Amino acid sequence: MAIIDGKALATKTKKALKQRVERLKSKGITPGLAAILVGENQASQIYIRGKEQDAKSLGFYSVIDRVSAAISQKDLLRKVEKYNKDEKIHGLLVQFPLPKHIDEKIITFAIDPKKDVDGFHPVNMGRLFMGNPLMIPCTPFGIMRMFEEYNIEVAGKEAVVIGRSNIVGKPMATLLTMANATVTLTHSKTKNLPEITKCADILVVAIGRAYFVSKEFVKKGATLIDVGMNRLENGKVLGDVNFKEVAKITSFITPTPGGVGPMTRAMLMEQTLLAAERKIGESF
Ligand code: GUN
Repeated sequence: MAIIDGKALATKTKKALKQRVERLKSKGITPGLAAILVGENQASQIYIRGKEQDAKSLGFYSVIDRVSAAISQKDLLRKVEKYNKDEKIHGLLVQFPLPKHIDEKIITFAIDPKKDVDGFHPVNMGRLFMGNPLMIPCTPFGIMRMFEEYNIEVAGKEAVVIGRSNIVGKPMATLLTMANATVTLTHSKTKNLPEITKCADILVVAIGRAYFVSKEFVKKGATLIDVGMNRLENGKVLGDVNFKEVAKITSFITPTPGGVGPMTRAMLMEQTLLAAERKIGESF
């Protein structure tokens, strides 16, 4: 059993990005990332702080726009439009969840697809689905990078994804398909789930239930990717996988925390840099 060290891999990834940032800066462009945080959601504040730290440590121009939970949808759209037009900003994201009176879809649709570093805009989703991606949702993108970096073969393998969200499950299944895995996309209503997951060489779990996956779900020698971040009342964060019980029978497994999360952030930085590089035709 080997642990996929997402934290170490994220550090390595960001080190490589830093060199590209310096090169771009020498040509007069500083990658710029704007993040809009609406309200006081505790988890969102932690995520945003992490993104800000990463952006600053890479030498990006970083804007965190904190606005009241009482902001109207119209005013939030105005803010999005402002950053869409801002030449100094190459990457723009609005942290979710949003207050109930704001429609997340409408906000997502308003972001310029070329600045949509989360990869949530339908143009980016559609392009990914067609095999011609521009911006890729960062969590599945980071997971694919883990496979590459750990030389985990994907082509020809049985891959099972648990969870069908637009942010993780669906794009994950698409990326695995593009990498020539045979993919089964399962979810909370799937019948006989352990029977299906037991066939998986690669199992990606993004269902959002603490310790949902026990050893009955896992084939010996499988690669297990845990996307879950379940925050308990005492502040502790648990994954969707019972790591202690399952780790023994896997070939590769991600821990929580220190697995998928840090790589998600690293990919956000990479996509911001890519967006800035595209400005001068250094990427396509
Ligand atoms: N909320 C939880 N995860 C994410 C994410 O990756 N992007 C945004 N914008 N909001 C989130």
